[in-house]
Amino acid sequence: MKDKTHYACQECGHLSPKWLGRCPGCGAWNSLAEERAPSETRAAADLRLPLTHPKLYREIPFDDFVRHPTANAEFDRVLGGGVVPGSLVLLGGEPGIGKSTLLLQIAEQLSQAGKKVLYISGEESDRQIKMRGERLGIQAQRLYLLSETCLERIFEECANLLPDAVIVDSVQTIYSLKLDSAPGTISQVREVAAQFLLFAKGHTVPVFLIGHITKEGAIAGPKALEHIVDAVLYFEGERHHNHRVVRAVKNRFGAANEVGVFEMTEAGLQGVENPSRLFLAERPVGSAGSVVLCCLEGSRPILVELQALVGATPYATAKRMATGVDPNRVSLLMAMLEKRLGYHLVGNDVFLNVAGGITVEEPAADLGIVAAIASSLHNKPLHPYTAVFGEVGLSGEVRAVAQAHLRVREAAHMGFQRCLLPASNLPLQSPVTGIEVIGLRHVAESLQHLFI
Ligand code: TYD
Ligand code: MG
Repeated sequence: MKDKTHYACQECGHLSPKWLGRCPGCGAWNSLAEERAPSETRAAADLRLPLTHPKLYREIPFDDFVRHPTANAEFDRVLGGGVVPGSLVLLGGEPGIGKSTLLLQIAEQLSQAGKKVLYISGEESDRQIKMRGERLGIQAQRLYLLSETCLERIFEECANLLPDAVIVDSVQTIYSLKLDSAPGTISQVREVAAQFLLFAKGHTVPVFLIGHITKEGAIAGPKALEHIVDAVLYFEGERHHNHRVVRAVKNRFGAANEVGVFEMTEAGLQGVENPSRLFLAERPVGSAGSVVLCCLEGSRPILVELQALVGATPYATAKRMATGVDPNRVSLLMAMLEKRLGYHLVGNDVFLNVAGGITVEEPAADLGIVAAIASSLHNKPLHPYTAVFGEVGLSGEVRAVAQAHLRVREAAHMGFQRCLLPASNLPLQSPVTGIEVIGLRHVAESLQHLFI
């Protein structure tokens, strides 16, 4: 009998019985590839799951997850307090950003804590990993390396070695014999992840999968795995900066959106204890268009610098670009400035950038975006020791945001003298001394407080 095949989009995983030039799922062109339907494999995988029966909710014992801190405070923070046995964690990022480096360091720390760690590499030889390890000063006594890409072989070795933690570098290089498709195709990547999930749960061993993503998040892999794994961590920003931000975009064992900040040094990734200091390090004090935002990344307040450059465009259509903040949000706020405050932005190019390559997604950045654009447009610098935060609505009203007192406290801690924030956030949950807080109801008011 002829094997059943289907066409799978290599970007989003959409399945189609016939070939199509454009994926109906994600709209990508020429992304469908023929693959064998994995129906029998799925059935076989299901058979291996232990039988379960309904349990009475009130009889289920409550205990928080046991976590093993790794001595890497930043990594623990992203994971929600440490490594959870039996968890499957995906670490994604662009090539060269530091995925292998970070997990090799974690392997070292787990090994120092007496755990037997297996580092599986489908990309590099033992010697290459050893070279990186020497650079990192790795002394692990119980770290094993395995250069192997066949999933079935890997599980044989796991059965012999019985590791306490497994690292897979990278999920795109591993293939299962059960499928015909090439390594890295969406069905292989899913199969490999599903098998490691069974392995992790079955043996109560934490498994870390490394996954490559390109700038667009393309290439079969991480995006298609997000729903399978317990936690998804992404390296954010660019590898041209010295520091790296790792963000938990999903975490079944902790808060999502938590970030860890690292610095790439000669000896690997070092945790940064005070990210605000790092992100503000090169701030040009007294320069028009530069604003300090108090943002909340996960549970931690971080001050970042937002820069705007607004100038008359020499071209027929003005350019609008935003990195680190949501471009749609910026368009919306610009429309608000035009309509409510009579700003004339039509013939102007507008560029916005968050210094240091961190991404600020929360609407609390709105007031900062407005302030940066206004400052650059008028070519007037802001008061240098003022920090701002607040959501801005379409009428120009300033709306309350979460955890205002944490943000103000961080600003005071970093030596800021004034903080502009939504009036509805006042009084603060707990008062902060040493900083003047100014509550705002409308963006028009904010402008009179902002400039020197
Ligand atoms: P790597 O972990 O190999 O990236 P990935 O696995 O995400 O592809 O790290 C790549 C970069 O990190 C490489 O350009 C060299 C740099 N690096 C350092 O600066 N210091 C170090 O100690 C190490 C090990 C790497
Ligand atoms: Mg690597």
